Amino acid sequence: MQLFNKKILLGITGGIAAYKTPDVVRKLTAQGAQVRVVLTRGAAEFVSPLSLQAVSGNPVHTQLLDEQAEAGMGHIELAKWADILLIAPATANCMAKLAQGLADDLLTTIYLATDARVCLAPAMNQKMWKARATQENLHRLQLHGVDFIGPDAGEQACGDVGPGRMVEPEAIVSSLAAMSGDDKLAGKHLVITAGPTREPIDPVRYVSNHSSGKMGFAIAQAAIEQGARVTLIAGPVTIAPPANATTISVTTAQQMYEAVMRHIPQADIFVATAAVADYKVSDVAENKIKKSDEKLTLTFVKNPDILKEVAALPSPPFTVGFAAESQDVEAYARGKLRNKKLDMIAANDITREGLGFNSDENALHVIWHDGDEHLPPASKTDLAKTLIALVAKQYNNKMSK
Ligand code: C5P
Repeated sequence: MQLFNKKILLGITGGIAAYKTPDVVRKLTAQGAQVRVVLTRGAAEFVSPLSLQAVSGNPVHTQLLDEQAEAGMGHIELAKWADILLIAPATANCMAKLAQGLADDLLTTIYLATDARVCLAPAMNQKMWKARATQENLHRLQLHGVDFIGPDAGEQACGDVGPGRMVEPEAIVSSLAAMSGDDKLAGKHLVITAGPTREPIDPVRYVSNHSSGKMGFAIAQAAIEQGARVTLIAGPVTIAPPANATTISVTTAQQMYEAVMRHIPQADIFVATAAVADYKVSDVAENKIKKSDEKLTLTFVKNPDILKEVAALPSPPFTVGFAAESQDVEAYARGKLRNKKLDMIAANDITREGLGFNSDENALHVIWHDGDEHLPPASKTDLAKTLIALVAKQYNNKMSK
């Protein structure tokens, strides 16, 4: 019953296997799913919109700009409506377009505009599947969090034998059902720190930094979408926290440390995105400091390194740190991974214009003990999804050892 009441948008692209899609729709609806269908121009050569309309019980969508559709279910509404976007068959051309973010028809536009889980059942000639470009696109889409069903190997419509056959409708539906019951972080508890901290100088002044909290909040949102329970411990920020996170607002590094330590015993994963002040003023003035002297000297003392202390606990959660660097990014990040005894670190180069601190975009180099992944510049929302997919994968690997 995993698909019961799920809203599934079936995208059909132009391959011979498209003739099997009415059967996919029938099997999905038999499981209680609601199905809507988007056909590309190529797909309409292989399967009739009318038969898909009959089996799905809904009008079939084919045009990006269709007056009638835009008044009712236009591309953005369809993108918002779907819980799952299933593309079957997905051609090599469709994979290439999605991997590049091209949006020149209804289906590719929906892909960019949706928060739904995306699942592709590829179908193509075996040489096309093995082609380097297709394999690179596969890898890139997997990094974006796209799941793949198949392809199967065997005899192909063109007479070749090899991988590239679309998985049979029954197996597509059962794979989809299995995936839907298994959100990657289902039931896991994540503690996430975000934003800056503020270290008081006197009752009216403080030392802080430019962190906006956007990256941490996006990670919290991505984890919730993967079924996790999230405790978000945030310094002073102006953005709204994700609706389903338990948010604890703190001001200083010391308060952040105490809040983290209170919640960490119940945590499976700790993600430290906060830009914690490394130092605090040693003697905070009780009254406002007057500008009577020519020179003012403040003495700072070290704040606790929250991440390092969490990773040093006797049974630490899976720990993920961030490293914002302005030079030798990879070397410093690898140093932190080792010295702080982390499971994973996400490094970014703060000198890259338009990325990182206080911006909506970022690029990350994610490193763990036996692998790494470069995540190219993207919105913090998209980057967070990819990062959470990597965290889930490495966390589940570690747990299964
Ligand atoms: O050593 P550095 O401050 O560069 O390490 C950055 C990482 O450590 C980030 O993940 C940050 O959230 C975390 N950190 C922390 N407590 C501190 C300083 C940094 O949790 N006092």
